[in-house]
Amino acid sequence: MTEFTDLAALPHDFAWGTATSAYQIEGAAAEDGRSPSIWDTFSHTPGKIDHDDNGDVACDHYHRWREDIALMQQLGTNAYRLSVAWPRVVPGGDGPVNTRGLDFYDQLVDGLLEAGITPSVTVYHWDLPQVLQDRGGWPKRDTAHHLAAYASAVAERLGDRVSHWATLNEPLCSAWIGHLEGRMAPGLTDLTAAVRASYHLLLGHGLAAQAIRAAAPGAQIGIVNNLSTVAPASDSEADLAAARRMDGHTNRWWLDPVHGRGFPADMLDVYGVELPERPGDMETIAAPLDWLGLNYYFPAVVTDDPTGPAPFARQIARPGVRRTGMDWEVDANGLEALLLRLTDEYGARRIYVTENGSAYPDTVRADGTVDDPERARYLEEHLAACARAAGKGAPLAGYFAWSLLDNFEWAYGYDKRFGLVHVDYATQRRTVKGSGHHYAGLIRAHAAARSGRAA
Ligand code: FCB
Repeated sequence: MTEFTDLAALPHDFAWGTATSAYQIEGAAAEDGRSPSIWDTFSHTPGKIDHDDNGDVACDHYHRWREDIALMQQLGTNAYRLSVAWPRVVPGGDGPVNTRGLDFYDQLVDGLLEAGITPSVTVYHWDLPQVLQDRGGWPKRDTAHHLAAYASAVAERLGDRVSHWATLNEPLCSAWIGHLEGRMAPGLTDLTAAVRASYHLLLGHGLAAQAIRAAAPGAQIGIVNNLSTVAPASDSEADLAAARRMDGHTNRWWLDPVHGRGFPADMLDVYGVELPERPGDMETIAAPLDWLGLNYYFPAVVTDDPTGPAPFARQIARPGVRRTGMDWEVDANGLEALLLRLTDEYGARRIYVTENGSAYPDTVRADGTVDDPERARYLEEHLAACARAAGKGAPLAGYFAWSLLDNFEWAYGYDKRFGLVHVDYATQRRTVKGSGHHYAGLIRAHAAARSGRAA
């Protein structure tokens, strides 16, 4: 650990975790009654994914989960964020529950608890059953109700042992990248569909929160958003306005409604699409939450882009700024700023960093080790930012590194590696990277700092 990192400001019962999602690691795409999701369809469409990769096998976690829990223990983590695959649990999208699908998560949860690792379950991490897409997908209101019914089935089965629940992961990506930019499933480029999808995702969030609470009293429920700090590329009036629009598109659109503030009026003007609102919806969307999840990767510096898609603002690449293998700028101060924004502007009572991490092109050395100092540095800088925010009053309760394993990075396939653990996809061999050992060291250092303080 370098000397600038003082983690003592993080609470003593801090959740030290790693995160994954179902489609990215499980594989077993056709086993035990699982039906195809929109990501199976998208990844099997030629040209959509780098190298035409798909999640059919991924990290084979469906069969290797015991080994993966042992890796979490080796890292010294006490929490794990996973997602449940809707097409395993309700293969028809709505209707009958597939018990075999739930059995997998049931045994996984038991295994985690036996290992002293607290599961944090995300109900929806982008893998909509294809049958529901065929019936209109997120632009259709029914999908929100089907999400709630599926969430209820999961909470009924796991709620006696799982207390930590997230409804949605990054609805921004589902709506904007999936329906407007077309780079993710279902691959549409239609503003009206995107705005309707965003509305029904948030409605689904509220309905699912109610359903989980009913099925698992005492559940701690949150939503996971990916947010960015947004700055204008220049001080021109056009760039300042572009930055306001990008902030609305990326941050406020997702935060305001769940905090009972409605959808931002300026963005309704920017999109010019009427919301499919019915009486009572806004109250449902603003269902009380126990925590907020923040996924943070990079800041956004934007310029006016009048001919581009909504929000008519484009991110620019600043010269001389460190970047990851995703070409994302590295800026840990952005994480601190967002934690403080959630605290000050949105009155957050508990926050988890539910994802944060970096991809770099790793190589396995002749001695079998993986040395990834850039990822270790990224991790440490962002944890230091967490500690600074906590020191300034952000109610930060945990950090989940993205990701436990290298995995299927959506449109980038297997090329982009985010894991603290390397995966050799030909053999499914797992190797803890240098950054994984570094994470374990930071977790130990935090424990030592806290006990030193208490002593
Ligand atoms: C986030 C996703 C996650 C992963 C990381 C790198 O947007 O939630 O599944 O792909 O990015």
